[in-house]
Parts: sequence; structure tokens; C-alpha cells
Amino acid sequence: MANGMQGRRKYTLSGFACSGLRPSTSLIEDNMNSFKPLVFSGVQPTGNLHLGNYLGAIRKFVALQQNNDCIYCVVDLHAITAQLVHDDLRGQIRSIAAAFIASGIDPNKHIVFNQSAVPQHAELAWVFNCVARIGWMNRMTQFKDKAGKDRENASLGLLAYPSLMAADILVYRATHVPVGDDQKQHLELARDIAQKFNIDFQEKIRAAGTGVDMVVGEEPIHGFFPLVEPLIEGPAPRVMSLRDGTKKMSKSDPSDLSRINLMDDADEILKKIRKAKTDPEGLPSDVEGLKGRPEADNLVGIYAALAEKSKADVLSEFGGQQFSVFKPALADLAVHVLAPITSEMRRLMDDTSHIDAILKDGGERARARAEAVMNDVFDIVGFLR
Ligand code: TRP
Repeated sequence: MANGMQGRRKYTLSGFACSGLRPSTSLIEDNMNSFKPLVFSGVQPTGNLHLGNYLGAIRKFVALQQNNDCIYCVVDLHAITAQLVHDDLRGQIRSIAAAFIASGIDPNKHIVFNQSAVPQHAELAWVFNCVARIGWMNRMTQFKDKAGKDRENASLGLLAYPSLMAADILVYRATHVPVGDDQKQHLELARDIAQKFNIDFQEKIRAAGTGVDMVVGEEPIHGFFPLVEPLIEGPAPRVMSLRDGTKKMSKSDPSDLSRINLMDDADEILKKIRKAKTDPEGLPSDVEGLKGRPEADNLVGIYAALAEKSKADVLSEFGGQQFSVFKPALADLAVHVLAPITSEMRRLMDDTSHIDAILKDGGERARARAEAVMNDVFDIVGFLR
């Protein structure tokens, strides 16, 4: 028992400047039994990726791989929860994988694969469906939003979505999950599922000898699954629509002018930034002056994120200038950052054999890891195999 420990177990991770992260590495080294830090995240293959996805998620994935073991998944099983039939699901899967690779994720050092290639995700999700309570699922705001008024008519898969998401992460016993703000509630649910599993099966886990001493709240327990830590902050801001600075940039916005897609060419980027909504004033000289000006705030935030600077730095350069000066500078920067990614994505999508080979290899490596964990889960639950 880890008697001396106070509070819930925190796993440490290095190399990511993020306010949610603790810099210490001592816990991991001090305790041979603790979970090995592992980063996992997933992106759904629905719709085109845009600047918000890049700055909010994929660029974080790239940063994390410098110092951590990472698994990045195209979550195709999730894609059929809200809409069953897709025109070109295979093409969408490849294009997310292409975006990962084109953005700089190294599929040899880390793992890039599609979810359906590893059947253990769905297997563990089934067990989690029996751990999670219907009441927990009914409280998920994303379910309520997506199901709309006619909840009876939503798919059972849409309701169970967070249970599959928990399985995605925990089938590798991953400890850290970079996601957007909107996924926070799902990660809390993943912790609840892990915790209930750990507590309900405590004696079985001990008997199987595959558990880890951990402290949950004040209570020391012997658990099997880590309580995942979300990585929400980081270098990326919330990227808002170019047509309405109060709405998130979204692939489902009917106006294509509202977003910059990762596959847009330079002319389209220039046009969209030129047409981006602004207000009549020039740029303020400090961040305080962006208050109540959502469109100005968004464009300055995008510039800052692309340039990897703070908003204050951007304003010290552009404060007092008109948008007629700032917008062309922003467009140039966006093209400069995105053009290499776009052209690499196009190249990868022209001949899909390379992407397919990466996904196949990633799937095999992921499956080997997931299989080992699932064997332990079968053992703990008591299935005979
Ligand atoms: N629900 C996530 C989203 O829509 C996608 C996702 C599925 C995911 N499984 C995951 C993200 C596991 C992180 C970890 O963005």
C-alpha cells in the first residue's frame, strides 16, 4: 500500500508546457508500481479538418511526441454513432491520418492507426457499458446536443459513445489525453468508469496480480486502470469562426468562409482572411483592449498561435494598425505555416498506399498492446478463454 501518499495519484509527463501539468517526475521514478506515462488521443474521421483542429489538437499531439510515448488514433467506430452511412469513410480516415503525418507526427516512433483495426476497443467498451450507469450517459452534454429533442430516436451507440472513448484510452492504460475543452466531461466520465472498475474488482485485481497501488481521494486502493489526466491547455487557443467571433470554428458551419480548412490553397486562405469579420477600429496596443471585441480577439489569437507568440507580443507589433495592414500579415503567416502541411497532405492523399501501410503497421503494434491489457481484463472479470 502506498500509505504515505496524499490525494489522488498524479502521473507526470515531461516536455509539455501546460498549466494542467505538474513538472515533477519523482512520483514515477519513486514508485515502480505506478502507471507508465502514455499519451493517447483520437480524432473522428468526419468532415474536413480545419485550423481549429490543427491548433487545438494536432499541433499539441506533435509537441507531446518529443518526450513521451504517444498513440494517436483515427476513431472510425465513433464516426458511425451520429451518422450511420458515410459517402467516403475510408477516404476520411486516410485524410485524418495524412493530416497527422503531414503535421509532423512520427508514425515509427509512435503509433498512428484507425480504431476499427484493433477489436479490443469494442471489447473493452462492452465491459465498460456494464460498468457505466445509464444516468451517467444521460448527463453528457454532447449527447444531449447531438441527440437533440428526439432522444428516443438517437442511436444506442451515440449514448454509449463516452464508454467507447474511455475504452480507447484505457485499453492501453494511457495516462494523459490531449483534447479540446469540449471533451472534458467525457474524460471525467472515463475517470469514473476506471474508478468504479478498480473498486468493484479490487479483490479480483489483487488476486490476478496485475494491479497498481494507487490512492483515490484519501483511500488507498489496488486498481487496474489509471485515472486519466486531461491536457486541455497548452499552446493552442480556442479558434473561433471567421464570420462570428463568438462561435467556435466548426466543420459543420454551413459557411465555408467561417473556417480555414487544412486542404485550402493559398488563394482560399487569403480570401477567407480578407473577408473575415472585424469591427471598424484598429488593433489595440494591449490585450485588455481586445475585451468585447471577439473578432479582433480571435484574429490576434490565431496570429499568436501560428507565430507561437503571446497575444501581447502580437499587439506590441501591430497595436494601432488597421486591419488592412494586419489581415495581409495574418494571411501570409497562415499560408507560411499551413502550405507545407497542405501540400504534404495532398501528396499523401494522391497515392494512398503509403498511408495505408502506416495505418496497418500502427494497427498491428496497437493491437499487440491492447491484447495484453485485454487478457488481463478477461482474467479480472473472470471470463474463460
Ligand atoms: N470524442 C473525441 C472528439 O470528438 C474523439 C475521441 C474518441 C477521443 N476517442 C477518444 C479523444 C479518446 C481522446 C481520447 O474530439
